[in-house]
Amino acid sequence: MRNSYLVFGQPLIEEAEIEEVVKSLRAAWLGTGPKVAEFETRIASYKGSSHAVAVNSCTAGLHLACLALALGPGDEVIVPAMTFAATVNSVIHAGATPVLVDVEPDTFNIDPEQVRRAITPRTKAIMPVHFAGRACNMDALLSLAQQHGLKIIEDCAHAIETEYRGRKAGTIGDCGILSFYATKNIVTGEGGMVLTSDDEIAARIKILALHGMSKDAWKRFSDAGYNHYDVVEVGFKYNMMDLQAAIGMHQITRVEAYWIKRLRVWEQYDRAFADLPVSRPARPDPESRHGLHLYTLLIDETASRVSRDQFVSELHRRNIGTGVHYRAIPVHPVYQRLFGWAPSDYPVADAIGRTTVSLPLSAKLTDKDVSDVIEAVQEVIRSPH
Ligand SMILES: Cc1ncc(COP(=O)(O)O)c(C=O)c1O
Repeated sequence: MRNSYLVFGQPLIEEAEIEEVVKSLRAAWLGTGPKVAEFETRIASYKGSSHAVAVNSCTAGLHLACLALALGPGDEVIVPAMTFAATVNSVIHAGATPVLVDVEPDTFNIDPEQVRRAITPRTKAIMPVHFAGRACNMDALLSLAQQHGLKIIEDCAHAIETEYRGRKAGTIGDCGILSFYATKNIVTGEGGMVLTSDDEIAARIKILALHGMSKDAWKRFSDAGYNHYDVVEVGFKYNMMDLQAAIGMHQITRVEAYWIKRLRVWEQYDRAFADLPVSRPARPDPESRHGLHLYTLLIDETASRVSRDQFVSELHRRNIGTGVHYRAIPVHPVYQRLFGWAPSDYPVADAIGRTTVSLPLSAKLTDKDVSDVIEAVQEVIRSPH
């Protein structure tokens, strides 16, 4: 058994970003500044997006995207029942009403047929989540959006490298929002980025992210000299700091190398678990590119002779950290109270939520880490042969 604990989702932090953070500290420019601008340029170029606006989390970006797309009271936004709370919360924070729909059993992604059935005259937008890095069926969603005049906000928290039939995730809908949270494919600690091709939406999000102050207010203390600003909206404090961008601007240069490292781990897991009585992730769609953010097993107690929660505890006992992404949205009491959602109305998401477990899948994993995970899984879940 391993003697040190393998923390789930540990990021790989290299010397370049450590030095860049130290440079920011020595220059004593910690807040939003030139490094944020540089990080935005690098992300826009990687994604082929006209605009990339940095914010302090994906959640903040989702909220601002809702506001910039004029979603508010009386408007319905369709969201998947299998996602993180942030997706749903951002709609609620904007004052709009989230409408939950079930997901597909193989991809865990929002089911376009369920979306179609949930559309009402009040529906204004769809918020698909490219779950675990697997692209949603964007052709079907775009077609529904076109027929019904709906906006699309892509939750790309798992989808930095994801492509759908040659188009980069986050550039297909009206806005796409990335996360650089500590466990994501590239990190800034906390952080997010809104992608859009619309000049006005980008400008509005920039203003809303910094108190509603007029353009380029972050430069007010720079060597360009002090300039007055106007407060033109009641904005938020959602801006990214240079300290965070100092990490991200180097991480993005390794995004492809890290993806290849995760692909190797993914393939090792897939081979090692092929004979076990567990469900492995569905094969990636050959026409699209999987972002490989989460490697999830489904542990069905009848087949595996161990429950998901026992599996998590057994791996923990063997010093292996895992994640649960996620228990379905309708199991949470606040949403039951606010919207009357019941898990049984979303059977696919609920079943995933009760059986899913994510194994460590980070560029930081060593060969030994990967073989420790494999050994532990094989010990806890015995092959029937
Ligand atoms: C699907 C999904 N959406 C949104 C978020 C929110 O991201 P952040 O932590 O950057 O706000 C997460 C974070 O884990 C997520 O998994």
